[in-house]
Amino acid sequence: MSALLKVDDVAKTFGGVHAVDGVSFEVDGPSVLGLIGPNGSGKTTLLSIVAGTYAPTRGQVTLESTVVSGRGAHRTVHAGIVRTFQTTRLLGTWTLRESMQLASNEGHPGARSARSIDDIAGLLHLSALLDQRGRGLTSAQQRMAMIAVALSTAPKVLLLDEPAVGMDLNEALALAQAIRRVRDELRVAVIVVDHNMHFLMPLAEHVLVMAAGRVLATGTPLEIRANQEVIASYLGA
Ligand SMILES: Nc1ncnc2c1ncn2[C@@H]1O[C@H](COP(=O)(O)OP(=O)(O)O)[C@@H](O)[C@H]1O
Ligand SMILES: [Mg+2]
Repeated sequence: MSALLKVDDVAKTFGGVHAVDGVSFEVDGPSVLGLIGPNGSGKTTLLSIVAGTYAPTRGQVTLESTVVSGRGAHRTVHAGIVRTFQTTRLLGTWTLRESMQLASNEGHPGARSARSIDDIAGLLHLSALLDQRGRGLTSAQQRMAMIAVALSTAPKVLLLDEPAVGMDLNEALALAQAIRRVRDELRVAVIVVDHNMHFLMPLAEHVLVMAAGRVLATGTPLEIRANQEVIASYLGA
């Protein structure tokens, strides 16, 4: 069986800066892949390529053997890859339910993760907040709400860029549990960028370490923790 998601030698340059410089990896099915690396190592740019926000300068991304890269974010969402929105603008004046309804119209109705708004909200423990306006939520609730909005598009692949930033340990652990339910119950493949190793290492089955736009190492969290090169360049810093 071919990979669910295949990232094949993708690169992206901005002027003379090689933000991402030949990254390849595969995701086979519902799972959590952790993506770590120092600031400026290309993590966000890589997610932007996979999400269709940027066309790669080289290489391609395929979802279930169909090339999805270079088609723009909107068509990539329709194909089944979604990232969390970086701003909370969408959620500000609308209720969470309204934002989720809008997102579900943008999404991929045939996807195996398609669920009702109430089911998704229940899975993320947001049912009591469905009819509240975004701006009334705490920042941790807003981050969870953004994941609910993204899941309303019924993705096969969910990309989360630093979802635990600003969360305390209990909030981060609740988020990790929610991500596990998304993987196991919605059968979504999740790629998570985060600097908080207490959050990410117990959550991820595989970890990909980036440095200067390239893959420095891949492995299980245990292998990555034991990798001297990773410790020197990142974990020990
Ligand atoms: N839109 C952009 N224009 C120019 N340079 C960019 C842009 N986005 C990112 N970069 C550069 O690309 C490199 C990788 O950035 P980024 O992907 O944001 O890294 P990370 O998310 O790992 O911190 C950095 O040198 C950054 O300055
Ligand atoms: Mg980033």
